[in-house]
Amino acid sequence: MFNFFKKTIPELGLKWDMHNHLLPMIDDGSNSLEHSLLMLKAYSKLGYKKLIVTPHVIDGYYSNTPDIISRKFDELIKESKVEVFSVELAGFAAEYMVDDSFYSRFLSNEEFLTFKGKHLLLETPFLNQPMFFSQLIFELQNQNYIPVFAHPERYVYLHGNYQEAEKLFDSGIKFQINLLSLIGYYSPEVFKFCKWLIDKGYYHFLGTDAHKLSQLELLTKVASSKLFSKIDFTKVENASDY
Ligand SMILES: [Fe+2]
Repeated sequence: MFNFFKKTIPELGLKWDMHNHLLPMIDDGSNSLEHSLLMLKAYSKLGYKKLIVTPHVIDGYYSNTPDIISRKFDELIKESKVEVFSVELAGFAAEYMVDDSFYSRFLSNEEFLTFKGKHLLLETPFLNQPMFFSQLIFELQNQNYIPVFAHPERYVYLHGNYQEAEKLFDSGIKFQINLLSLIGYYSPEVFKFCKWLIDKGYYHFLGTDAHKLSQLELLTKVASSKLFSKIDFTKVENASDY
Protein backbone atom coordinates (compact mmCIF):
# COMPACT_ATOMS: atom_id res chain seq x y z
CA MET A 1 0.00 0.00 0.00
CA PHE A 2 1.10 3.51 -0.81
CA ASN A 3 2.54 5.07 2.30
CA PHE A 4 2.48 8.80 2.00
CA PHE A 5 4.59 9.43 5.07
CA LYS A 6 7.35 7.01 4.11
CA LYS A 7 7.66 7.82 0.44
CA THR A 8 9.74 10.61 -1.10
CA ILE A 9 7.27 12.98 -2.69
CA PRO A 10 7.64 15.84 -5.15
CA GLU A 11 7.66 19.36 -3.70
CA LEU A 12 4.81 21.57 -4.78
CA GLY A 13 6.86 24.71 -4.33
CA LEU A 14 4.12 26.36 -2.33
CA LYS A 15 5.17 27.79 1.00
CA TRP A 16 1.88 28.58 2.62
CA ASP A 17 -1.72 27.51 2.38
CA MET A 18 -4.45 30.05 2.87
CA HIS A 19 -7.48 27.79 2.44
CA ASN A 20 -8.13 24.63 4.42
CA HIS A 21 -10.42 23.03 6.96
CA LEU A 22 -7.73 21.81 9.29
CA LEU A 23 -9.30 22.87 12.60
CA PRO A 24 -11.05 19.85 14.10
CA MET A 25 -14.80 19.46 14.58
CA ILE A 26 -15.77 22.96 13.62
CA ASP A 27 -17.10 22.40 10.08
CA ASP A 28 -17.08 19.60 7.48
CA GLY A 29 -13.29 19.40 7.64
CA SER A 30 -11.10 17.44 10.04
CA ASN A 31 -13.24 15.31 12.35
CA SER A 32 -10.78 14.89 15.22
CA LEU A 33 -7.73 16.39 16.80
CA GLU A 34 -5.71 13.31 15.82
CA HIS A 35 -6.75 13.76 12.21
CA SER A 36 -5.72 17.42 12.26
CA LEU A 37 -2.30 16.40 13.57
CA LEU A 38 -1.93 13.89 10.73
CA MET A 39 -2.88 16.62 8.28
CA LEU A 40 -0.23 18.88 9.80
CA LYS A 41 2.31 16.14 9.31
CA ALA A 42 1.23 15.81 5.67
CA TYR A 43 1.60 19.54 5.11
CA SER A 44 5.16 19.32 6.49
CA LYS A 45 5.89 16.47 4.15
CA LEU A 46 4.57 18.45 1.18
CA GLY A 47 7.00 21.25 1.96
CA TYR A 48 4.57 23.82 3.34
CA LYS A 49 5.93 26.29 5.86
CA LYS A 50 2.89 28.26 7.03
CA LEU A 51 -0.80 27.62 7.27
CA ILE A 52 -3.71 29.99 7.61
CA VAL A 53 -6.74 27.98 8.69
CA THR A 54 -10.10 28.94 7.21
CA PRO A 55 -13.14 27.15 8.66
CA HIS A 56 -16.49 27.65 6.95
CA VAL A 57 -18.83 30.33 8.19
CA ILE A 58 -22.25 29.47 6.78
CA ASP A 59 -25.37 30.78 8.45
CA GLY A 60 -27.54 27.90 9.64
CA TYR A 61 -24.76 25.32 9.18
CA TYR A 62 -21.48 26.49 10.63
CA SER A 63 -22.03 29.50 12.86
CA ASN A 64 -18.35 29.93 13.61
CA THR A 65 -17.51 33.19 15.32
CA PRO A 66 -14.00 34.71 15.60
CA ASP A 67 -14.04 33.64 19.24
CA ILE A 68 -14.86 29.98 18.47
CA ILE A 69 -12.26 29.87 15.69
CA SER A 70 -9.54 31.47 17.78
CA ARG A 71 -10.13 29.04 20.67
CA LYS A 72 -9.94 26.03 18.33
CA PHE A 73 -6.83 27.45 16.75
CA ASP A 74 -5.15 27.88 20.16
CA GLU A 75 -6.08 24.31 21.11
CA LEU A 76 -4.54 22.93 17.94
CA ILE A 77 -1.39 24.98 18.43
CA LYS A 78 -1.07 23.62 21.96
CA GLU A 79 -1.51 20.03 20.81
CA SER A 80 0.76 20.44 17.80
CA LYS A 81 3.65 21.43 20.07
CA VAL A 82 3.83 17.88 21.37
CA GLU A 83 5.28 16.84 18.02
CA VAL A 84 7.72 18.80 15.93
CA PHE A 85 6.34 19.88 12.58
CA SER A 86 8.21 21.90 10.02
CA VAL A 87 5.02 23.75 9.20
CA GLU A 88 3.75 26.60 11.33
CA LEU A 89 0.16 27.39 12.20
CA ALA A 90 0.56 31.02 11.28
CA GLY A 91 -2.93 32.34 11.71
CA PHE A 92 -6.65 31.91 11.32
CA ALA A 93 -9.25 33.47 9.07
CA ALA A 94 -12.46 31.97 7.67
CA GLU A 95 -14.20 31.04 4.45
CA TYR A 96 -17.37 33.10 4.40
CA MET A 97 -20.41 32.02 2.44
CA VAL A 98 -21.81 34.98 0.55
CA ASP A 99 -25.51 34.93 1.38
CA ASP A 100 -28.12 37.37 2.73
CA SER A 101 -26.86 36.86 6.26
CA PHE A 102 -23.30 37.72 5.28
CA TYR A 103 -24.42 40.81 3.42
CA SER A 104 -26.47 42.08 6.34
CA ARG A 105 -23.61 41.43 8.75
CA PHE A 106 -21.36 43.42 6.46
CA LEU A 107 -23.88 46.26 6.35
CA SER A 108 -23.97 46.29 10.15
CA ASN A 109 -20.20 46.73 10.17
CA GLU A 110 -19.24 43.32 11.53
CA GLU A 111 -15.49 42.79 11.39
CA PHE A 112 -14.57 39.72 9.38
CA LEU A 113 -11.55 37.48 9.84
CA THR A 114 -8.92 38.10 7.19
CA PHE A 115 -5.42 36.94 6.27
CA LYS A 116 -2.39 38.75 4.84
CA GLY A 117 -3.72 42.13 5.90
CA LYS A 118 -7.30 42.50 4.74
CA HIS A 119 -7.66 39.52 2.39
CA LEU A 120 -11.14 38.08 2.87
CA LEU A 121 -11.93 34.57 1.63
CA LEU A 122 -15.40 34.24 0.10
CA GLU A 123 -17.40 31.42 -1.42
CA THR A 124 -20.85 31.43 -3.00
CA PRO A 125 -23.42 28.68 -3.51
CA PHE A 126 -22.33 26.34 -6.32
CA LEU A 127 -25.40 26.65 -8.50
CA ASN A 128 -26.36 30.30 -8.34
CA GLN A 129 -24.39 33.45 -8.00
CA PRO A 130 -25.97 35.81 -5.46
CA MET A 131 -27.55 38.74 -7.32
CA PHE A 132 -25.67 41.24 -5.20
CA PHE A 133 -22.23 39.61 -5.55
CA SER A 134 -20.66 42.30 -7.77
CA GLN A 135 -22.10 45.06 -5.63
CA LEU A 136 -20.79 43.38 -2.50
CA ILE A 137 -17.28 43.06 -3.98
CA PHE A 138 -17.33 46.77 -4.74
CA GLU A 139 -18.54 47.69 -1.27
CA LEU A 140 -16.01 45.41 0.44
CA GLN A 141 -13.23 47.04 -1.57
CA ASN A 142 -14.51 50.43 -0.46
CA GLN A 143 -14.05 49.23 3.12
CA ASN A 144 -10.46 48.27 2.27
CA TYR A 145 -11.10 44.56 2.20
CA ILE A 146 -9.36 42.55 -0.53
CA PRO A 147 -11.92 39.93 -1.51
CA VAL A 148 -10.59 36.52 -2.52
CA PHE A 149 -12.86 34.18 -4.47
CA ALA A 150 -12.45 30.59 -3.24
CA HIS A 151 -12.22 28.07 -6.10
CA PRO A 152 -13.94 29.99 -8.94
CA GLU A 153 -13.53 26.88 -11.11
CA ARG A 154 -16.01 24.95 -8.98
CA TYR A 155 -19.09 27.09 -9.56
CA VAL A 156 -21.56 25.58 -12.00
CA TYR A 157 -22.94 29.04 -12.80
CA LEU A 158 -19.55 30.06 -14.22
CA HIS A 159 -18.96 26.96 -16.34
CA GLY A 160 -19.04 28.11 -19.93
CA ASN A 161 -19.93 31.62 -18.81
CA TYR A 162 -16.53 33.07 -19.65
CA GLN A 163 -17.84 36.60 -19.92
CA GLU A 164 -19.08 36.56 -16.34
CA ALA A 165 -15.79 35.08 -15.14
CA GLU A 166 -13.89 37.85 -16.91
CA LYS A 167 -16.16 40.45 -15.39
CA LEU A 168 -15.52 39.08 -11.92
CA PHE A 169 -11.78 38.93 -12.47
CA ASP A 170 -11.77 42.51 -13.76
CA SER A 171 -13.68 43.65 -10.69
CA GLY A 172 -10.50 43.06 -8.71
CA ILE A 173 -11.60 40.09 -6.61
CA LYS A 174 -8.61 37.76 -6.38
CA PHE A 175 -9.02 34.22 -7.68
CA GLN A 176 -7.93 31.22 -5.59
CA ILE A 177 -7.77 27.95 -7.49
CA ASN A 178 -7.94 24.62 -5.65
CA LEU A 179 -4.90 22.46 -6.36
CA LEU A 180 -7.01 19.33 -6.68
CA SER A 181 -8.94 20.93 -9.55
CA LEU A 182 -5.74 20.65 -11.60
CA ILE A 183 -6.01 16.86 -11.62
CA GLY A 184 -9.76 16.66 -12.22
CA TYR A 185 -10.61 15.71 -8.63
CA TYR A 186 -14.01 17.42 -8.56
CA SER A 187 -15.46 16.87 -12.05
CA PRO A 188 -14.53 17.10 -15.75
CA GLU A 189 -16.38 20.43 -15.96
CA VAL A 190 -14.38 21.86 -13.07
CA PHE A 191 -11.19 20.63 -14.71
CA LYS A 192 -12.12 22.20 -18.03
CA PHE A 193 -12.95 25.55 -16.50
CA CYS A 194 -9.80 25.41 -14.36
CA LYS A 195 -7.77 24.92 -17.53
CA TRP A 196 -9.36 28.02 -19.05
CA LEU A 197 -8.58 30.07 -15.92
CA ILE A 198 -4.96 28.96 -16.01
CA ASP A 199 -4.57 29.64 -19.73
CA LYS A 200 -5.95 33.13 -19.16
CA GLY A 201 -3.68 33.68 -16.15
CA TYR A 202 -6.71 34.26 -13.91
CA TYR A 203 -5.31 33.21 -10.55
CA HIS A 204 -3.66 34.81 -7.55
CA PHE A 205 -3.59 31.99 -5.00
CA LEU A 206 -3.41 28.22 -5.07
CA GLY A 207 -5.09 26.61 -2.08
CA THR A 208 -5.48 23.07 -0.87
CA ASP A 209 -9.02 23.50 0.51
CA ALA A 210 -8.07 20.33 2.37
CA HIS A 211 -10.87 18.84 4.44
CA LYS A 212 -9.07 15.57 5.21
CA LEU A 213 -5.77 13.77 4.99
CA SER A 214 -6.61 11.83 1.83
CA GLN A 215 -6.94 15.10 -0.09
CA LEU A 216 -3.49 16.19 1.00
CA GLU A 217 -2.10 12.81 -0.04
CA LEU A 218 -3.59 13.33 -3.50
CA LEU A 219 -1.59 16.52 -3.87
CA THR A 220 1.40 14.34 -4.73
CA LYS A 221 -0.24 13.87 -8.13
CA VAL A 222 -0.60 17.59 -8.72
CA ALA A 223 3.10 18.39 -9.06
CA SER A 224 3.45 16.19 -12.13
CA SER A 225 0.21 17.28 -13.80
CA LYS A 226 0.10 19.15 -17.08
CA LEU A 227 -1.94 22.03 -15.72
CA PHE A 228 0.42 22.52 -12.81
CA SER A 229 3.32 22.92 -15.25
CA LYS A 230 1.46 25.79 -16.90
CA ILE A 231 1.27 27.86 -13.71
CA ASP A 232 3.31 31.02 -13.67
CA PHE A 233 4.58 30.99 -10.11
CA THR A 234 5.70 34.61 -10.28
CA LYS A 235 1.97 35.41 -10.21
CA VAL A 236 1.12 33.15 -7.30
CA GLU A 237 0.95 34.99 -3.99
CA ASN A 238 1.57 32.02 -1.73
CA ALA A 239 4.56 30.64 -3.57
CA SER A 240 6.91 32.39 -1.14
CA ASP A 241 6.96 33.20 2.55
CA TYR A 242 5.28 36.35 3.69
FE1 LIG B 1 -13.14 25.53 1.66
